[in-house]
Order: sequence, then C-alpha cells, then structure tokens
Amino acid sequence: MNIILLGPPGAGKGTQARTLVEERGLVQLSTGDMLRAAKSSGTEMGNRVADVMARGDLVTDEIVIGLIGEQIEAHGAGTGFIFDGFPRTLAQADALTELLDKHGRTLDAVVEMKVDDEALIARVTGRATCANCGEVYHDVTKPIPADGKCVKCGHTEFTRRADDNESSMRNRLMTYYRETSPLIGYYYANGKLRSIDGLGAIDEVKARVAEAIGG
Ligand code: AP5
Repeated sequence: MNIILLGPPGAGKGTQARTLVEERGLVQLSTGDMLRAAKSSGTEMGNRVADVMARGDLVTDEIVIGLIGEQIEAHGAGTGFIFDGFPRTLAQADALTELLDKHGRTLDAVVEMKVDDEALIARVTGRATCANCGEVYHDVTKPIPADGKCVKCGHTEFTRRADDNESSMRNRLMTYYRETSPLIGYYYANGKLRSIDGLGAIDEVKARVAEAIGG
C-alpha cells in the first residue's frame, strides 16, 4: 500500500504516519525529516536549505524529488510507503507518479487532513520532539511525562523546531495554500483523494485515517 498524507503544517501527518509504521509496517518517507537530518549533519545541501526552512518557504523541487527518488530506490519491492510532506507542488506530484510507475508501484490513496488555521498554530507552537526517537509531544494535548522521560525510549532530551514559531508558521500556511493546496484538486480528479476531519483526539483521527485507506 502506498499512501500520501496531505495537509497543512501541524495537521498531524507525522503523528499518524508513525502509527501506520508501527501497526502496518509501512515505511514513512518524510521530506521534512530528511532535510532536518541533512541540516543537523552539516552537509552542503543541509546548510543551503536551513534558512529556507526556518522561514517556512519551500526547498527546491529538484532537491526533494532527488531525496524521495533515492529512498524509493533503496527499499525493496513489497514495501509500502507513507509519503509525509511530499508532494507539495504539482511538479513534485508529477515526479512521484513517474517514480512510482518506474518501480511498478501504484498510489492507493491520498488522505487530506483538514484542520483550521488557529488550531494548527496552537499545535505547532506547542510541539516538542524526543531528541532520540522522534516521538512527538505537545505542551497541552500530549505533554512530556512528569518524570521528563520519553514514553517510547526513556530519553530525557527534547527539541523544538526552528520553524515552530508563529511568524514562520503563518508563512508556512500561506505557502501551503498557494503551492500545495492545488494538489487537492489534482488528486480529486484522479480519484485518489479521501478528505478527513483532522480535528479531535489523536485516536479519533487515527480511526478516520484507517477508514479512508480501507480499514
Ligand atoms: P515538514 O517537516 O514536512 O513540516 P510540515 O508539513 O510543516 O508539517 P509538520 O511536521 O509541522 O506537521 P505535521 O502535519 O507532521 O504534524 P505533527 O504530527 O507533527 O516540513 C518542514 C519544512 O521543510 C517545510 O516548511 C519546507 O521548508 C521543507 N520541506 C519539507 N518537505 C518539502 C517538500 N516536499 N518540498 C519543499 N520543501 C519541503 O503534529 C503537530 C503537533 O500537533 C504535535 O505537537 C502533535 O503532538 C500535535 N497533534 C497531532 N495530532 C493532533 C490531534 N489530533 N490533536 C491535537 N494535537 C495533535
């Protein structure tokens, strides 16, 4: 199964993708995570994209299509993918269709997660991530446990993203509506789009995702 989680920043794509990895053995391909890894390891590309990401603008299509192409190539036949944060432009969507075709894969569904802007801003400005395993927390809805240890791995360090502030977030939202929201029509037209309400408890949203991709 190959699915895209499509939605604005903070819609819960990463949170739901991690559940699908744990429960269905799918491979999560998050271009945001790949770019942040390049940034932390100080590669030339990572240094080039750091400011673009902090502002909330999009990295070039060429870079992210290259990253996704390498990952699809690297995983064996039979592995299903969850595309999280990719594609984000029509050029990326066309490139993904070509890459999947080339590897004899098909796209099963595109799950659009709808959440209103004020809730999105509250979500990202309260986000914290375990520095070891990547488990995502939220100051209000999923706080770091009182003993300061990650529920998944027991690590005690947590990070906050450079772009998780209100000014970057407003720019990320504008970028989403301008560059990425046309993909809703693109995938509706080819019959792959399933739109769900992304508001509600994480488990409620998880049940909606499951229904959208066929149980
Ligand atoms: P990326 O890392 O992809 O970030 P994003 O799309 O902005 O999405 P987020 O990771 O912020 O949100 P999410 O939907 O995964 O939400 P999450 O589950 O974490 O991209 C970052 C940057 O990289 C981009 O701005 C761009 O510069 C660049 N980039 C990446 N891909 C690119 C591409 N393809 N092309 C060009 N540039 C690219 O949840 C958020 C918070 O909400 C968490 O705290 C979580 O605990 C909480 N939460 C989740 N679900 C719920 C719920 N149901 N109720 C309450 N709280 C919830």
